[in-house]
Amino acid sequence: MCGIVGFAGLRDAAPVLLDGLKKLEYRGYDSAGLAVMKDGTISVTKVSGRIASLCERTDEGRSMPGFTGIGHTRWATHGAPTEENAHPHLSNDGRFAIVHNGIIENYIQLREELIGQGYHFDSETDTEVIVHLLEMYYRGNMRKTLIKVVNRLKGSYALGVLCSDEPEKIYAAREASPLIIGLGLDENYFASDVTALVANTRNVIYMDDGDFAELSGDSVVIFDGTGRTVSKESTRISWDVQAAEKGGFDHFMLKEIMEQPGAVKATIAPRISEGRIVFDEIDISSAELADIRKTVITACGSAYYAGCAGKYALEKLTGIPVETALASELRYSDPLIDEHTLVIVISQSGETADTIAAMKECRARGARVLAIVNVVGSTVAKLADHTVYTWAGPEIAVATTKGYTTQVTVLYMLAVFFGEKLGRVSKKEYDKYMMMIARLPRHIQQAIDMNPLAAALAKKYHSSKALFFIGRNTDYAIALEGALKMKEISYLHAEAYAAGELKHGTIALIEEHTPVIALCCNQKIMEKTLSNIVEVKARGAEVLALTFRDNQKILSEADDLLFIPKVDSIFSAVIEILPLQLLAYYVARENGCDIDKPKNLAKSVTVE
Ligand code: F6R
Repeated sequence: MCGIVGFAGLRDAAPVLLDGLKKLEYRGYDSAGLAVMKDGTISVTKVSGRIASLCERTDEGRSMPGFTGIGHTRWATHGAPTEENAHPHLSNDGRFAIVHNGIIENYIQLREELIGQGYHFDSETDTEVIVHLLEMYYRGNMRKTLIKVVNRLKGSYALGVLCSDEPEKIYAAREASPLIIGLGLDENYFASDVTALVANTRNVIYMDDGDFAELSGDSVVIFDGTGRTVSKESTRISWDVQAAEKGGFDHFMLKEIMEQPGAVKATIAPRISEGRIVFDEIDISSAELADIRKTVITACGSAYYAGCAGKYALEKLTGIPVETALASELRYSDPLIDEHTLVIVISQSGETADTIAAMKECRARGARVLAIVNVVGSTVAKLADHTVYTWAGPEIAVATTKGYTTQVTVLYMLAVFFGEKLGRVSKKEYDKYMMMIARLPRHIQQAIDMNPLAAALAKKYHSSKALFFIGRNTDYAIALEGALKMKEISYLHAEAYAAGELKHGTIALIEEHTPVIALCCNQKIMEKTLSNIVEVKARGAEVLALTFRDNQKILSEADDLLFIPKVDSIFSAVIEILPLQLLAYYVARENGCDIDKPKNLAKSVTVE
């Protein structure tokens, strides 16, 4: 939700800022803007719409010379995506410019106060109060002023600030929104995400809540809310710039779908040693584990569906009841969670506001919190008692693919790891599960290779009014994610139903040629799903079944087919989702949708 960048150095800032913003566009793409400082004057250019328009308007940055600057790409919260509401915002005296990612919750009171003081507002944003507060409190000392200003703010912010009295410097501050400092040679940067930095540097400092930064070309000073300098370790990012590029694919989403065998392998490999699962990051003793009465998995969107898919293996192998709870619901539900609860929080970005709030709620009730997270140094990663990284690499497409499969993979590994620690998994079973986990990357690749017809099927189904995804048990959990993929990128109405529930209402919606995507990979329950297929076919549905190549019964009933290799359903979600991701991708492509940046969405949902 909104991306910010900043640059200070010995070359023109605007082209560097534009490159950074292009990498952050996945965070929001309603409007964009730059502020650059030259000879003590701040110039601002803003556009409604995409970064491409900002590049055009500024002649790729050439029309904005100056060695220090800040930039922003917006996902609108307060006020429409117009040029006026785009960031950066300027103070009335033109001395300050700011960019902001987050939400200022007390902006209405502050706005009234500032209007009372004679300040005029040019936008409807919550952000603009910050720049007028800077002007109001400024007495010549930027550090003191910044601290005073943020003390007035309630909410979340990653802030970037220019002050025309300090033409070689940029300032930044963080509270509950991601912010990373990049350390270069004679130049330094900040950004909401490392993807915006890797083209220039791999040495970064992760800012913590309450941190402030003062950057010039040759120095970076981090200070706290008392003004005291804080010393911070820098981290070296292990992946390179290609990881955040499309690499010949038409869309990041397709690239990320294809990366899944490698991403899952990268998630598994460091945790297998001599045929055993090792989680160095989890220091829970068997006795502590035995004290756990229930597990609660909480997350949002696809990460929540990853939890739904992983729940079956976790419950079966640990014998501990597993509940899944949407983070946005859990946080306000007065949940029955205590010190005997293990809470598993799942988040690709590690910055999802509802997930963080749910996590805090659970911790406050005494639960032990284990986080499965992709982004290193993110808020979720920092808040958890135990953090397990998914090592999927940067995920740029707004719709998650490798994020989901690596999250489910970790849940599978946790199921085996905890199950064995609890003495519920025999040696023979353990070895069998280990083999199944080791084979996941290969099976994912086979699932990709087995579906060259996904693009052709998309031509048949892309103009449907609505699609039904049905399945039972694990197939149902996967159908939930399959339907979400379809709706978010293709804008077709798609809904997942537990196949057995159709007859309790939904079947009324089935008419001639209604597409029903039937997941038939769980062998224990396949006959039952088959009867549901027969029922919808009897009412005219067009059935696209997802199953194994030799599944004759399903093959003879379905109109069209997607395939996966034959695997045990206990660990099948990461394989079964592949054909559904491909189908959603090709349907969206047929419909001419902006696949990597679907309308109204943004990656990293840092607002409630
Ligand atoms: C859908 C999607 C979202 C995210 C959700 C949680 O494709 O990407 O539903 O899964 O917003 O995001 P994270 O995992 O970053 O907490």
